[in-house]
Amino acid sequence: MSVTTTIPLSRGAPSLDIVDIEGLSEAAARAFENDPAGIAGYGTSIGYPPLRKLIAEWHGVAENRVLVTNGSLQADAFLFDELAKPGADVVVERPSYDRTLLGLRERGALIHAIPLKPDGIEIDELERQLKLGLRPAFAHIISNFQNPAGYTISAEKRRALVRLAREHEFLIFEDDPYISLRFRGEQLPTMLSLDSDGDTVVYASSFSKTVCPGIRVGYIIGPTELIAKIAKRATNTYISPSMVSGAIVYEFAMSGALDRSITRARAALAERCQRLADGILEALPQARLVAPDGGYFLWVELPEGVDSTKLTAAAAEHGVAIVDGDDFLADGRSGAVRLSFAPVTPEEIDTAVGRLAAAVASLG
Ligand SMILES: Cc1ncc(COP(=O)(O)O)c(C=O)c1O
Repeated sequence: MSVTTTIPLSRGAPSLDIVDIEGLSEAAARAFENDPAGIAGYGTSIGYPPLRKLIAEWHGVAENRVLVTNGSLQADAFLFDELAKPGADVVVERPSYDRTLLGLRERGALIHAIPLKPDGIEIDELERQLKLGLRPAFAHIISNFQNPAGYTISAEKRRALVRLAREHEFLIFEDDPYISLRFRGEQLPTMLSLDSDGDTVVYASSFSKTVCPGIRVGYIIGPTELIAKIAKRATNTYISPSMVSGAIVYEFAMSGALDRSITRARAALAERCQRLADGILEALPQARLVAPDGGYFLWVELPEGVDSTKLTAAAAEHGVAIVDGDDFLADGRSGAVRLSFAPVTPEEIDTAVGRLAAAVASLG
């Protein structure tokens, strides 16, 4: 079959047309003009100080609870180095972000995967396991528009989880890079904001999805002592994260360009999501999906008898890259695939759906 360009429904990254390149160039120029001494040197491990202060204000926390990192994956790695020791029990959602699973597995942590429903992790099952003696170091929860499922944990479950974490003395790691990309429904409180004592929730987010991934700026917020330990780890690892990137994000935010970028991304993502969900349901009426209220991803549960691994390979042959849902499980089969609507235009989505339907048909 001759297909010229593969359509990448696989990538958790925005298409270039929703990245404000001009605004970023201007922010970069302002960063060098306004604070040359502050960004030309090494800086400190806590990140570009004005950005750290801004993030602390957004979340209503003390500055010394915030650490800016080179992308939130760096924050994850520091946190895992601190908490996910060999043999430590860690709760994750099933399915969950493949890099989280990899990071935990590489460190020898014991993964306890609790099923994820459209309104969040199955709290009753977690509670049952806690009552049976599970003592996790932390529970990793992607609270908004989860990667890979697109689901969002309900307000009720957020409260229940914080209560359970307090009762059973484990931390919640709220991994929240998609929070600003809600295109439908009301914003829910972060678990960080529900943690009034500030000792139960560690929160991470990122500018990868709202500015661009290449800027590599993310952050972590947590209990003061834990953040101090991570800051020391950061100093020993790289002295400081990129001050230049941090200052560009700061200038971008202060000028209003960040808010404009988010508004633009939300509108584009809403349209793409609808187009993809409608297209899939029309082409594959037996597939099941819950269209998300924001973010990047659509989780498609495949019709009976369609193997996710075989379909992923067949889709590649038909010119559309998708991700096998099994990649998001520590073990077992998912019966699903993850489709990203962020890196593609609506027209590409229509073509991709046609190719995907042909790939399913080719499996017989
Ligand atoms: C749940 C989750 N956490 C973290 C990240 C990593 O983000 P960053 O680019 O900030 O390292 C991603 C990116 O896809 C993600 O989906």
